[in-house]
Amino acid sequence: MRLLEIGIKNFKSLRDVTFRPGALSVLIGPNGAGKSNLCEALNFIGEMYRSGLDAAMVAHGGYGNVALRAVEDADTPASFTVTASLSKHDLRPGTNGRVRDGVAREIVIRHRVVLSTCPSSADDPYHIAEESVRVDGKLKHKRSPERLLQIDRNAAGLQLQVSPAVREQSLPGDDLADGAMRRIASTALRARPLDLMPSLIESLLWPLLPASSALGAIALYRLETSALRQPGVPSPEPRLGRDGGNHPAVLRWLESHDCSVFQTIVGSTCTVDRSDDGLDVVETARKTLELRFQEARPRRQWSAGEASDGTLRALSLFTALLDPRTDVVVFEKPENSLYPWEIQSFIDACRELAEKQKQIIVTTHSPIVVDRVRPDDVRIVSKPEIETHVDRLADLDPDAKPAWEQGEIDLAYYLRSGIVPEATPAMPLSVLADPL
Ligand SMILES: Nc1ncnc2c1ncn2[C@@H]1O[C@H](COP(=O)(O)OP(=O)(O)OP(=O)(O)O)[C@@H](O)[C@H]1O
Ligand SMILES: [Mg+2]
Repeated sequence: MRLLEIGIKNFKSLRDVTFRPGALSVLIGPNGAGKSNLCEALNFIGEMYRSGLDAAMVAHGGYGNVALRAVEDADTPASFTVTASLSKHDLRPGTNGRVRDGVAREIVIRHRVVLSTCPSSADDPYHIAEESVRVDGKLKHKRSPERLLQIDRNAAGLQLQVSPAVREQSLPGDDLADGAMRRIASTALRARPLDLMPSLIESLLWPLLPASSALGAIALYRLETSALRQPGVPSPEPRLGRDGGNHPAVLRWLESHDCSVFQTIVGSTCTVDRSDDGLDVVETARKTLELRFQEARPRRQWSAGEASDGTLRALSLFTALLDPRTDVVVFEKPENSLYPWEIQSFIDACRELAEKQKQIIVTTHSPIVVDRVRPDDVRIVSKPEIETHVDRLADLDPDAKPAWEQGEIDLAYYLRSGIVPEATPAMPLSVLADPL
C-alpha cells in the first residue's frame, strides 16, 4: 500500500491540509507548528481502517479532542480524504487467509469521509455526513485504468456503480449490484457507514484486493525509553506500541518468523564494541519476555533496565522500521538520545527501505537528519496563525533544490538561516543569534 495523498480538514490544528507523502518525507518546522498533529491524523486514519471509526475516536481522546478547536464558535466538521494505491503484494496470505488472482494488478482507492457534529447529543457527538469511495484500476489486457467501483453516500441516499468487468468477475452469475445494495441496506441500519465501507469494498472487490487491511498498515512511533525498559507479553501476533511498549515480544516474534530481519535489526544497532555482541529474548519466571544484551568481552550480559537509552532506542527504531507488517511508518523525532552516527545510519536505512518498499515519514528537529535527506523529501510544517500549513520545500523555495544539487548549500544551515521563513519561528528569541 502506498499513500498518494491525504486531505485533512479540521483535525486538531489542521484546518485544510493536503499532504502528498513521497517515499521518504521529513517534516520540519517550529515547535507547535503541527507536525505531531499531522502524524496523529495519519495514525487516526490507520486506526480507522484497522478497528473502525469509533475505536479510532476513543484511542484519540474523543471528538472534542480530535476536531479543530475553532476560534469562532462554528461547526467545523472534520473530514479525511485518503488516496492510496494497492498492489497485488497487498494480498497477503496470513492477514486474509488466501490469495486469489484479481481482475486488476493495481488499484487506486480514494476514500472520503466527512463527519458532522451533533452538539446537542453528548452520547453521539458526531456522525458521518458523507462518504464516498472510488476505485480505479487497470484491468488485465487493457491499456489504461478505468473506474471499477464508485459508492457515494449522503443524506440523499446511496449510489453504487460497479463496472461490468468487476460485475462479471466478482460474483459470476449473481446480480452484484442488487446483492451489494441489499447488504448495504441491512448493515447501514445498525452500523456506521465507515465500519461498513471497507468490508463492503472487500466483498465487492474480493477478487481484487482486501482494501481495509492494506489501508490500515500505518504505524506511528513516538518511542519512550521507559516503555522500552518494560518486559513484553507474549502473544500470537505482538505489535510494537506507539511508545515502544512490548518490544521484547515483537523481537521474539520476528526472531521466529523472519530471522533475517531479526539479525538485521540486531546488526544495525551500534554499541561501543559490537564485534561479538548479541541479543537474546528470554522468558522470565512470570512468563514475560525480557531483553538480554550479550557482551562478548568481557563476557557478561545486561538487561533492558541496564542498557543505555541510545542502545534501546536505536534497537527499537530498527525494529519498527523493519517489521514487515507495516507499509507506512511514521517516526516522531527519531534522533532523541541517538549518537549522530547512529541517527545517520538510521536515516540511510529509512531511505533504502523507502526506495524498495515502505513509505517512511519522520518528524525532526535535528540538523543531522535534515542534512542526510534531499530537498524533495522535506516538508515544512508551519502555523502562521491558528492553522497548520504543510508545504513542500520546492514549492516554498524553488531555488533550494538546484543550489543543493550544485553542492552550494548545506540544507540544515540553509533552512535555519531564515531564507525560508516558514521553517523558522515567527519571532525568534533575540538571544539566539543563529536560531535553529
Ligand atoms: N483540537 C485542536 N484544535 C486546534 N488546535 C489544536 C488542537 N489540538 C492541538 N492544537 C494546536 O496544536 C499545537 C500542537 O501542535 P503539535 O504538537 O503538532 O506541534 P509540533 O509541530 O509537533 O511541535 P513540537 O516540535 O514541539 O513537537 C498546540 O500548541 C495547539 O496550538
Ligand atoms: Mg511534536
